[in-house]
Amino acid sequence: METIGTVEQLRRTVAGWRAQAMRTAVVPTMGALHQGHIALVHQGLRLADRVVVTIFVNPRQFGAHEDLGRYPRDEAGDRRKLKEAGAHLIYAPATLEMYPEGFATEVAVSGPAKVGLEDRFRPHFFAGVATAVAKLFIQAGCDYAMFGEKDYQQLKVVTRMASDLDIPTVVIPVPTVREGDGLAMSSRNGYLSDAERQQAPLIHRELQATADAIRQGAPPAEAAAAAARALTQAGFRVDYVEARNADTLAELHATSDPVRLLAAAWLGTTRLIDNIGV
Ligand code: PAJ
Repeated sequence: METIGTVEQLRRTVAGWRAQAMRTAVVPTMGALHQGHIALVHQGLRLADRVVVTIFVNPRQFGAHEDLGRYPRDEAGDRRKLKEAGAHLIYAPATLEMYPEGFATEVAVSGPAKVGLEDRFRPHFFAGVATAVAKLFIQAGCDYAMFGEKDYQQLKVVTRMASDLDIPTVVIPVPTVREGDGLAMSSRNGYLSDAERQQAPLIHRELQATADAIRQGAPPAEAAAAAARALTQAGFRVDYVEARNADTLAELHATSDPVRLLAAAWLGTTRLIDNIGV
């Protein structure tokens, strides 16, 4: 399994695969890989003959006061995990390969990117994600791209972006992989202290209890507000707990709307996000 760093090498390699009529999949990541990322690789291997994993800590999606500087990096571990998973290629471009001197273009996103969830707390996040992901899609030219439901709003934004820009890569959603106690796996979980790590699965438990309540007829907005109160009581600083339309992420209108519960909350200096279907 080779590691490459340039657009030219990536294009050449994928073109070689396509010339052999192979189907290709790309798995965009920021590294510090865990079983959630590996599930994306496995899903890619089910659909495609060749899977390329991109590792790029994208500075454009971090706010000025966010964790770009301390974002975890583990090149050796990532390589070992990807080799074991059966990935075929790692594409790890330098920042200047992605954003050369004079880079002056940004992909502006609205629709699911402007619904008052992550975008309310991280206003520049989705433009940064969409810009990097559009470039990765165009650079790789793969048939499929794997995205985790863990970042549900991101999944919707990227799906919309690829469709709107006529990028022929099909975005495939992959269910969230969790720890035994329900905590959604995340590269950021390593920031948690032991005590915070004990607390963290409460987000998932509250989402599950809220989903049950809604299924039994509780009004979604009230059930979500109750979950936010419970998390606050338990010591979380809650950014949001919301019940939204699972397709559009807009506010719920009809009782027949498909419902997704989405939450973001801080434990100390670590921001956790999670979501589940109802
Ligand atoms: P990163 O946080 O590294 O996540 C890469 C991919 O792995 C995303 O599609 C994310 O949803 C998925 N993922 C993370 N944790 C998961 C889990 N527990 N279960 C299932 N999938 C999980 O998301 C990003 O990087 C970046 O924003 C990126 C898309 C690479 C653009 O820079």
